[in-house]
Amino acid sequence: MAQRGALVVVEGLDRAGKSSQCELLRKSLEESGMPVKYIRFPDRTTAIGKMIDEYLRGQSQLDDHAIHLLFASNRWEVARSIEQDIARGYNVIVDRYSYSGAVYSAAKGNPNLSLEWAWLPEIGLPRPDLCLFLQISPDEAAKRGGFGGERYENQAMQTRVRELFHALFKVVRGGHDDVQIIDAGRSLDEVANDIRDAVRGCIERLDAIGPLRK
Ligand code: TMP
Ligand code: MG
Repeated sequence: MAQRGALVVVEGLDRAGKSSQCELLRKSLEESGMPVKYIRFPDRTTAIGKMIDEYLRGQSQLDDHAIHLLFASNRWEVARSIEQDIARGYNVIVDRYSYSGAVYSAAKGNPNLSLEWAWLPEIGLPRPDLCLFLQISPDEAAKRGGFGGERYENQAMQTRVRELFHALFKVVRGGHDDVQIIDAGRSLDEVANDIRDAVRGCIERLDAIGPLRK
């Protein structure tokens, strides 16, 4: 049977270059003859995704817990297909995942919505073999242009999100998640090279890692 694929998550703040880097990674793996699929969260195409999209664009109001659970459901609705793709040998690149899910909701400052609470609905989802966090400074982010018009795209929220990502990484690394911080303030190529090396290393370690974890 063919080796299973790797589940690789790319995380970061807005403007860190996640989507461009995911695209470069996809191309580089394909050029080396490795099967690859790319998915992103939120997946705005499903029924749940449409509700999330309306919320993010400010066209609907939802309780903080309710929207949080929609984001998590949006991952659960494709969990099986991720597992199947991995088993068939595809390397699955995921643009934002559970880490964004927990951190953005907890960053809203709702006293009844802690990081711990926010993490719970993520438990049992396919566990990434590697998470690459694209790190940029607030100054570099500002240089790259203003925020878009969506909910959460403001300085106060981004500052809190940055802190919470690092708080969450401390916890999940204790649970043996492989989280690597990539300095994304450099040129596109420099960042892409580091990402490619990290992902190749992960693919080489898959035998040692064993089956896809939860
Ligand atoms: P995007 O800019 O990558 O399309 O993501 C849209 C916003 O949704 C972004 O501000 C991060 C936020 N988000 C959550 O709040 N929870 C989640 O689970 C995910 C995946 C994203
Ligand atoms: Mg965005």
